[in-house]
Amino acid sequence: MKIIQSLTDYHNEYRRSVEQPEIFWADIAGDFVWKTKWSKVLEWDFHKPEVKWFIDAKLNITENCLDRHLPQRANQTAIIWEPNNPRDEARHITYAELHREVCRVANMLKAHGVKKGDRVCIYMPMIPETAYAMLACARIGAVHSVVFAGFSAGSLTDRINDAGCNIVLTADGAYRGDKIINLKGIVDEALQKCPDVKTVLMAERTGTKPPMQAGRDYYWNDELKKVNEICPAEETDAEDLLFILYTSGSTGKPKGMVHTCAGYMVYTNYTFRTAFQYREGEVYWCTADVGWITGHSYIIYGPLSAGATTLMFEGVPSWPDWGRFWQVVERHRVNIFYTAPTAIRSLQQAPLEFVRRHDLSSLRVLGSVGEPINEEAWQWYHKNIGKGKCPVVDTWWQTETGGFMISPISDVLPLKPAHAGLPLPGVQPAVMDEQGKEITTSPAEGRLVIKYPWPSMARTIYGNHQRFKETYFSTFPGYYFTGDGCRRDSDGYYRITGRVDDIIIVSGHNLGTAEIESAITEHSSVCEAAVVGYPHDIKGQGIYAFVVGYTMPPELEQEKLRQEIRDTVARIIGPIAKPDKIQFVSGLPKTRSGKIMRRILRKVAEGDTSNLGDTTTLLDPNVVEEIKRGAIG
Ligand code: PRX
Repeated sequence: MKIIQSLTDYHNEYRRSVEQPEIFWADIAGDFVWKTKWSKVLEWDFHKPEVKWFIDAKLNITENCLDRHLPQRANQTAIIWEPNNPRDEARHITYAELHREVCRVANMLKAHGVKKGDRVCIYMPMIPETAYAMLACARIGAVHSVVFAGFSAGSLTDRINDAGCNIVLTADGAYRGDKIINLKGIVDEALQKCPDVKTVLMAERTGTKPPMQAGRDYYWNDELKKVNEICPAEETDAEDLLFILYTSGSTGKPKGMVHTCAGYMVYTNYTFRTAFQYREGEVYWCTADVGWITGHSYIIYGPLSAGATTLMFEGVPSWPDWGRFWQVVERHRVNIFYTAPTAIRSLQQAPLEFVRRHDLSSLRVLGSVGEPINEEAWQWYHKNIGKGKCPVVDTWWQTETGGFMISPISDVLPLKPAHAGLPLPGVQPAVMDEQGKEITTSPAEGRLVIKYPWPSMARTIYGNHQRFKETYFSTFPGYYFTGDGCRRDSDGYYRITGRVDDIIIVSGHNLGTAEIESAITEHSSVCEAAVVGYPHDIKGQGIYAFVVGYTMPPELEQEKLRQEIRDTVARIIGPIAKPDKIQFVSGLPKTRSGKIMRRILRKVAEGDTSNLGDTTTLLDPNVVEEIKRGAIG
C-alpha cells in the first residue's frame, strides 16, 4: 500500500481510486494475510442493494490483528490499559499476550458451545477482557454484538433478541469515575425477557459478587482455567458476518448494522494508517467506548491490524478531576489523541490549569469524531492541546460506513477549521439538491450521499434487508444516503451540517426521536409526546420533549412528573436518552392528516418563535400559541 505523504500523492491516489477502484483496493488488500485470495474484487448494485468485496476470499481477521505481528512484535505493547482510578496501575499487554488471551477466551467460548456464525452479546466495561472477547469471537467465526454498557436492561433485551444471541458476556460491575454500575444486575433483568439465552460468562472487575444463577451463570476466570491457549483461527469467508452493531433509526427500533470480515478489515486498517499517518512505535489513544463503532474500528480492529499500540481507557474525563485525560496523555506519552467534540467542549469549560499542569509534548495528531465540531472548540483544541502544531483530523463517518469517509490526512491536506475536508481515496461523495439531483458544481449545499461502494460499508440490517434498502437506498435511488446535510466549498472541502432526519446527536450518541417518544409514553400519565433536538453548549444537541398528559399536571406537580419521565426513559433506553427539557402541553401541532409538525417544535425548542412559518394547515393553530407561551428557555 502506498502511504500518502504529500498533496500530490493524495490527488494521484484519489484519482486512481476513482478510475480503477478494483485495482486500487486489490493493491491495498495485498498487504494482508489471506487463507485464499479473492476471485473478484467487487460486485455491487445499489438498487438491490447488494455489495460484496473480495469475493471468494478466505481469511481470519485475528490472524491479521495478532498472528502476523508475532514474528516482529511479540513483545511490543498492543494494548495499554489505563484503569478508572489513576492510583491503580496501568497494564501493558503485548501482542504475544493478547494473542494468548484471545485464544484462551476463544476456547472458553467453544467449550460453552459457541460455533461459527453464532451471535454473541458482549455487555462489558472498558477492560482488557472486552477486547479479548471481541477478538475471540472473530477467532472462531462467531459474530459479536457489543452493546454499550450504558444502555438499560430494556435496550439490552431488544438487542439480544433481535440478534438471536444465546450467550451473553458481561462483568460483575463497571467503574465510572466514583460510581459503580451493576452490570450483572442489568443483565439479569434483561434476561427475564430473553428465553434463548442459556449462558452468561461474567468477568470480575468490581468484586461486587452479584447473585449467580446456577446452570446459566459462570465466572469467567473459572471457565478460563479449564481451557488451553491454542486455538487455530477459523476460516471465514470475506463476506461472513464479523459483527452486528446497533444504531438508532429515525423510526422504529434500533437497526442492527451488519459488517463483514474482509472489506471491514482492509478499510479500517487503510484509513487508520492514512488519516492519522500512524508511525511505527507510536502510542495511539481513542477515547471512545468499544460499545460504539469508533471503538470497534479505531480502538480494536484498525490499530491492531496495523500493529499499533492502542490505549484503552476505563475512566471518564472528569474524575478525579478535569485533568484526567491530560494526565493519561502525559503518563503514556500519547502521540495520537482521538476524541469527540462533546468531550472537547466540556474540557474547554474547565480551568486551563488542568491542561497546563501536564506535559503534552508527545502529541503529534489530534482527532475528532461523532458530530460537527464547532469552530470555537476546534480552535481551543488546536491551540491548547495541540499547542498550535498538531493537525486536527476531523473524521466524518458513521456506524454504517464502518470507517472514516471524509477526513483530513494528518500533515498532508491543508486544514480548514471545523471542516471534515476531502474524501479519502476510494470514497465518492456527492451532494444532492431538494429535487434529488446531484449538484456537480461547488460551492454546493444539500444532502450528502455516496455514489460508489467502499469496502467497509454495512451490508444489511440484521434480519431486515427491506429496511436497509428503505433507509439508505430509496431516498436517492442508486445512491447511499447518509442522512446528513453538508456544504461543499469551492476547494471541494466538505463541512457536515448535521442530520436531516429524525435522529439527534447528543454528546456524540445517535438517538432516534421516535424511540425516545415511545419511552416517554410508557409513563402512565403520558398520552403523547414529541421530541426534537436543540443546540446545547456541551452536548451539541439537547433533547427537548413536548409532553401531552391525560390531564394537564398542576404547576406544583410538574417537576416531580418530569423527574419520573426522565427515570422512565433512563430505564427503557438508558441515561443518555433522558430529556433535558420537558414542556407539558395540552396538544401537539398537527396537520389535518394527523402528522406532527416538527418544524414548529424545533423552532420553539431552539428559542426562535419569531417566525414559525405557515401554521394555517394545522388542525388547531391555537396550540402553537400555548406552546410558544410555555417554551422552556
Ligand atoms: O451526523 C453524522 C455524525 O454522526 C453520525 C454518525 O453517528 P454514528 O453512527 O453514531 O457514528 C459516530 C462515529 C462515527 C453521522 O451521520 N458525525 C460523525 N462524525 C462527524 C459527524 N458529523 C460531523 N463531523 C464529524 N466528524
